[in-house]
Amino acid sequence: MIKISPSVLACDLSRLADEVGVIERAGAEMAHLDVMDGCFVPNMSFGMPVIEALRRHSGIIFDVHLMIVEPEKYAERFIDAGADIVTFHYEAAKDSAALLDLIRSKGAKAAISIKPKTSAQEIFHLLDKCDMVLVMTVEPGYGGQSFMPDMLPKIKALREEIERRGLNVDIEVDGGINPETAKLVKEAGANVLVAGSSVFKAEDRKAAIDALR
Ligand code: DX5
Ligand code: ZN
Repeated sequence: MIKISPSVLACDLSRLADEVGVIERAGAEMAHLDVMDGCFVPNMSFGMPVIEALRRHSGIIFDVHLMIVEPEKYAERFIDAGADIVTFHYEAAKDSAALLDLIRSKGAKAAISIKPKTSAQEIFHLLDKCDMVLVMTVEPGYGGQSFMPDMLPKIKALREEIERRGLNVDIEVDGGINPETAKLVKEAGANVLVAGSSVFKAEDRKAAIDALR
C-alpha cells in the first residue's frame, strides 16, 4: 500500500493546524514534519513546541524527520511531543542500533534516514530494528529541490534486501517527489512518499495527493 506523507515545510506555516487538516481530509496517511537545527543541515525549521501544539489539533500520524545533530539527545522529547514515527539520520547518530531500540521502547515507530552520499549497504545491518527507512532523494535542508534519479538503485537495493530477509520495513522517499518521480520510486520499491511542494503548492491538494498515489 502506498502511503502519502505531505511535508508541511511547503505549507502556509502561519496556518499549520488548518493546513494539516486539509491534507488529512484529502486522504493523506501522515503528515511529514521536518525538524532542522541549522547544524546537521544549513537551515532551521521548528522543534518540539510546535509539534506539541499541533498535536492538540490533529489525530493524523506525525512522521517526524529529524535533521539534527545528536538525535539521541532529543528523540524521546519528540515522542513526548506527539511524534508517531521518529526518523533520525544515520550520519548524525552515535549508535544507530541503540537509538532505534530506544525509540521503539518508548512506543514510537523507528526509522533511519540516509543522505544521497550514504550507500544502502551501510544500513543493512540495522534493518531488523527499523519500521521504516528514509532514502533522501535530495540533499536534506530545503524543500523545492530536484529529484536525484541516482537514488533509484539505492531504493531497489533496500527493497531487495528487505524482501530477501522477509522483513516488514517501509521505504520512504523524500525530496522532489511529484507524479512523474513518484512513478519511478514506486517501481524501485518505495511505498511511503513525502511530498512538500507538489502537494502544498497545488490549488487542489486532494487532486495532488491522488496524482501521487
Ligand atoms: C528536505 C526535507 C523534505 C522537503 C521536501 O530536506 O526533508 O521533507 O520538505 O520538499 P519537496 O517535496 O518540495 O522536495
Ligand atoms: Zn523530510
